Amino acid sequence: MSEKTLLLGQTLAFAGDPMTECPQAARHSTHGGVLIENGRIAAVGDGADLRKAHPGARVIDHGQALISAGFVDAHAHYPQTAIIASWGKRLIDWLNTYTFPEESRFGDSGYAADIAGRYLDLILANGTTTVASYCTIHPASVDALFDAAQARGMRIAAGKTCMDRNAPDTLRDTAQSAYDDSKALLEKWHGQGRLSYVITPRFSPTSTPEQLSALGALWAEHPDCLMQTHLSEQLDEIAWVKSLYPQARDYLDTYEAHGLLGPGGLYGHAIHLEPRERARLAETGAALIHCPTSNTFIGSGLFDMAGLTSEGQRIGLATDTGGGSSFSMLRTMAAAYEIAQLRGHALHPAQLWWLATAGSARALRMQDRIGNLAPGMEADLAVIDLASTPAIAQRTARADDLWEALFPTIMMGDDRAIAATYLAGQAVARAKG
Ligand code: GUN
Ligand code: ZN
Repeated sequence: MSEKTLLLGQTLAFAGDPMTECPQAARHSTHGGVLIENGRIAAVGDGADLRKAHPGARVIDHGQALISAGFVDAHAHYPQTAIIASWGKRLIDWLNTYTFPEESRFGDSGYAADIAGRYLDLILANGTTTVASYCTIHPASVDALFDAAQARGMRIAAGKTCMDRNAPDTLRDTAQSAYDDSKALLEKWHGQGRLSYVITPRFSPTSTPEQLSALGALWAEHPDCLMQTHLSEQLDEIAWVKSLYPQARDYLDTYEAHGLLGPGGLYGHAIHLEPRERARLAETGAALIHCPTSNTFIGSGLFDMAGLTSEGQRIGLATDTGGGSSFSMLRTMAAAYEIAQLRGHALHPAQLWWLATAGSARALRMQDRIGNLAPGMEADLAVIDLASTPAIAQRTARADDLWEALFPTIMMGDDRAIAATYLAGQAVARAKG
């Protein structure tokens, strides 16, 4: 008989989508339990009842802490780990000044392995159990991240970033080599254990139409893969795209015309969208990835969460490390709240939590496996201490319900709020800092 583990604590799950049914879609238990068997959630319910029903289970009591699905970061650049929080630039200058020189180092597989391990340990310490990450143009950078994820048992999605123009010599591939290298990496890694390959043209300014077409063809050959890119992040960038693609109706059309618009598409930022783009994104069921700390840090603009939600867009939440200024999905939820406030809309804590877990899992088309507490889901979990600092604890002490108790951690919490992280039911040991 396989071993059972019973986690006790408060639990938070979702029976529906709180973006539309708020907060009724949330399921909270103050004395809950999560039963784990063979790396999956076998049952979620009342802690005492589960204990009685499974007397042989090993019990781990998390007390008053909140057991949640682990966070899902739907857009990040692991190679930018060491240049996070670099001062003073906007998108294109930031890429040229900080990002491209750093990414040039990832042809060295030792360096790539070093940063990949460092990055995954940092996000696990922040309660993130799944990420969709860009790598660099170097195949070795993809191998390094997948090797590191496999060693930790993480479900991640990642791909080789493709660029064949407007980047330094050290960071350019070609249309053909982007296709060949992406295909070889896809065949090597996609579906290996918990790993998924993501076809990854960086963004239209750094790809020729030929490269976009080649990657569109690869996606058509592997429609079960995700495809990730950037869309309408800054106004200067959009003007540049229009000058590089004079035939295109809009930014999205540069992807659409080359076979790079589809339901498995992940479009990072998506801030300054035109009506046609919004309609096409909704129609195709593509995912828009909100990167709030990045959008304020690089000065990009205010994502229209309320408007896009009301159009039925599929939306995920992400750090966008290292354009984003944090590895923490708590900090990312706080920034999403602040941006929505600037647009006159208050996101409920249930909505923020859903975006960081089930919503991002749905964006990555992994909602049947991760992002929620429910029987059959993989037991990737974050356990949250709702009183992790004196400042948070004194506020939480006054809380009348879960949402009041949780919101101070969303707004002020960091990795100290992560009491434990579990991957497929196994507690993750904290890496030595
Ligand atoms: N657009 C193209 N590349 C990038 C990147 O690395 N970060 C951000 N924030 N935007 C981009
Ligand atoms: Zn990005």
